[in-house]
Amino acid sequence: MFVFVASASCGRRRDSSSTIFAGTRVVMPNIAPRIMVYPRGAPAPYVEEGWLALPVLPHVSGSPVVFGDGSHATTRLCAAAVDLLCRQRQPEAILDVGTGSGVLARVARARGARFVVGTDIDPAALASARAHAALDGSSVEIHFVAESPDHWGARFDLVVANILEEPLRSLAQALANALRPGGALLLSGFTRMQMPALRLVFENVGLTYVRHADLDEWTLLTFARGP
Ligand SMILES: C[S@@+](CC[C@H](N)C(=O)[O-])C[C@H]1O[C@@H](n2cnc3c(N)ncnc32)[C@H](O)[C@@H]1O
Repeated sequence: MFVFVASASCGRRRDSSSTIFAGTRVVMPNIAPRIMVYPRGAPAPYVEEGWLALPVLPHVSGSPVVFGDGSHATTRLCAAAVDLLCRQRQPEAILDVGTGSGVLARVARARGARFVVGTDIDPAALASARAHAALDGSSVEIHFVAESPDHWGARFDLVVANILEEPLRSLAQALANALRPGGALLLSGFTRMQMPALRLVFENVGLTYVRHADLDEWTLLTFARGP
């Protein structure tokens, strides 16, 4: 059975629509204000102009669970921010560190990014991300690899990393080094309580704090690299 449970991890109402698929009512959540996910094989939901509807593969029993179906607050914070920044600034090159199922990289590509990279240390995540990206039928390839964020040099207009606090601390310099001058860094995967100390870590690698946003106990931090 393939059912998306809306908002299970967030404890807060969210907008969604639903359809009957294989005899089951399937909830199709909005993971961000203009982004919806739906199960591959179900009819694509009607979306208004400017919205994205991304198909998501069902979990196959016995296979590793890969993070990134859009239900977690950190994914939703990141998806909304990536979407907004892409529409406002049209970044050309985007790096999604800890890509999981590849959902954030797919949003960036759908919004027009032309050099899109997703990295992960988990081979199951990279396989899932490749399979999900193939569903979009895009002519722009997303490069899913296990490289360090600074592998491409200071190449990216936008870097997003939704990982836990400890890996983010370890990757701080490499994440900063991946940004072009003027580029933006989005971080999530940590709580409000952890945010102030993490903010200092990234300021200490030369980035400028821009803002933060919260959803439930989770936080999204935005930084800029100076010109
Ligand atoms: C919380 S999930 C985020 C998935 C997706 N980006 C999202 O927002 O829904 C974190 C992912 O980071 C990966 N990860 C953990 N440590 C990492 C590291 N040091 N470098 C790259 N990926 C890492 C995990 O394997 C996992 O797939």
